[in-house]
Amino acid sequence: MRNTDSITNLPDQECNPREVQGIWLYGAGGHNSVVISIIRKMGLEPLGVFDDRHEELKAAGIPILPGILDPEFRRPSGPLIVTVGNNLARKALATDLQGPFATAIHPSALITESTIGPGSVVMQGAIVQTRTRIGGHAIINTAASIDHENLIDDFVHISPNATLSGNVHVGEGSWVGAGATVIQGIRIGKWAMVGAGAVVIRDVPDFATVVGNPARVIKITNLESRVLDDYESSLLSMPPRLKSNLLLIVNQVLNNSGKEPVRDLGRESSLQRDLGFDSVELAELTVRIEAEFGVDIFADGIVRTVGEIVDKLVKKDE
Ligand SMILES: CC(C)(COP(=O)(O)OP(=O)(O)OC[C@H]1O[C@@H](n2cnc3c(N)ncnc32)[C@H](O)[C@@H]1OP(=O)(O)O)[C@@H](O)C(=O)NCCC(=O)NCCS
Repeated sequence: MRNTDSITNLPDQECNPREVQGIWLYGAGGHNSVVISIIRKMGLEPLGVFDDRHEELKAAGIPILPGILDPEFRRPSGPLIVTVGNNLARKALATDLQGPFATAIHPSALITESTIGPGSVVMQGAIVQTRTRIGGHAIINTAASIDHENLIDDFVHISPNATLSGNVHVGEGSWVGAGATVIQGIRIGKWAMVGAGAVVIRDVPDFATVVGNPARVIKITNLESRVLDDYESSLLSMPPRLKSNLLLIVNQVLNNSGKEPVRDLGRESSLQRDLGFDSVELAELTVRIEAEFGVDIFADGIVRTVGEIVDKLVKKDE
């Protein structure tokens, strides 16, 4: 059964799926395969899947396209969903890709008088009760139960079979584990982790991991020390779109000098030692970066590494 409120009452959506034929996806791991099945159940087409890690692709039967780290990457103008399970990596990608984002809601989900933000996914059998507000790029996993007047911020993941009672607030980026129960009125801070099966009866601080019944804090982890794989770390340390533009410029300079292109850029890469730039090439790099980003990277002193360039370009956008 499909509750029509779930499709008619979505003021936060940038893109109502009923008005489009298909949805682009970013990220081809396990989470992606579930979202593809939801999109198909909604009568829409998955148009293509972008991913940088081609060796891990699992989206059979759908075009696989180069990801954001590839200079060839072009953001299609149509609606997209970032189908990456890791909340931090999903935030990095969504921030960089920008809208329009679509929302995927499985027809078996029951959603009553609530709002679901752009980029969010509600899976099979999930229940979202009245006057709940779910932010953007959230995952409401299989059979999760979210009761009335919950506030679920952006980039949250509520795992399978987790239960949130009424008036719970889950802060940005937090992950509620499988089968966890959160009693009414609890505030879960941002980027927190509630362990599988936990019973949460007290507020959870920002960045805390809680486990057990009753749930107790076992650690507080700041974002920087989260265990991320190399790909996720690279997304966070260098905005992907900026990185791909910079890679393109670096390779143009190398190409003009008859040198081999580089496949990747690390923050620690030295312009002279690792990329082999001499002073003429450094000058060309400066001119090209200024033309592209409007920033003179050598304006206030010498720049030695890719990371120092990135910091100047990011600072300009702040
Ligand atoms: C909470 C969690 C993130 C902790 O992972 P971690 O930071 O790697 O912590 P560790 O595995 O080192 O465990 C630390 C301690 O907490 C205990 N612990 C871990 N998870 C627990 C849980 N869910 N419930 C009770 N105790 C738990 C461990 O036994 C260990 O106790 P000890 O120090 O007495 O040996 C993880 O165990 C968990 O529950 N993840 C949720 C997975 C999930 O829901 N997936 C759904 C996917 S859709």
